[in-house]
Amino acid sequence: MQTAVKQVRDLAIEQPSSVRVFESFGIDYCCGGRKPLEQVCNEQQISLTQVLDMLAKAEQAAPEPVEPWTTRSCSDLVEHIVHQCHAPTRTELARLDALSYKVRNRHGANHPELSQVEALVQQVADEMMPHMDKEEKVLFPYIVSLERAHQAGAPRPYAFFGSVAHPIATMMAEHDIVGGALASIRQLTHNFELPEGACPTYHALYTTLADFERLTHRHVHLENNVLFPRAIALAEPE
Ligand SMILES: [Fe+2]
Ligand SMILES: [Fe+2]
Repeated sequence: MQTAVKQVRDLAIEQPSSVRVFESFGIDYCCGGRKPLEQVCNEQQISLTQVLDMLAKAEQAAPEPVEPWTTRSCSDLVEHIVHQCHAPTRTELARLDALSYKVRNRHGANHPELSQVEALVQQVADEMMPHMDKEEKVLFPYIVSLERAHQAGAPRPYAFFGSVAHPIATMMAEHDIVGGALASIRQLTHNFELPEGACPTYHALYTTLADFERLTHRHVHLENNVLFPRAIALAEPE
């Protein structure tokens, strides 16, 4: 069936990437979603061609390529983490906040686990937002300066926190808290298994949670397993 004549809610379910496109156009894919896409575009005076084009692009958006990080500099890795992990984490946490509230508000009476999911999403956000700020403002610039000093044969730069191992231990402990909260979400939702007849917003919440978990796992892996050990090695006495 052509995309234009499919119902918006069906597109939101079949093609999860479409949800972001619909959000960007203010297209209601939930309660008002039982209409063909072309009709919705017509009613809201939105260009159908433009929406179809964005839907195709959203679906084609390739997953992040596998980078040989071990051969790249810490400064490249830091830039990658900030742009490819931290930026989407902030965007997705804002979406998850709204989605978890909306789904709990509508379906919480029949699905009590949704209150816990909402609280866990809040816990992840409360942990991650200051965590990323600390990395970007303190730890990452220090790691970059350590690398520069090492390359220039200069002494290690001064740090108010003493050894770089101290903030790294704190960051890794915070990663564990977030990982635990995400694991609890997965458990509570039975591996993001949707209940019978779940509405598109429910679908969007679970898809976003699953994507967020993937993103966070990749993010934490790059820090715990690639960046941090290299920073500790750079800080070791020659
Ligand atoms: Fe990070
Ligand atoms: Fe981190």
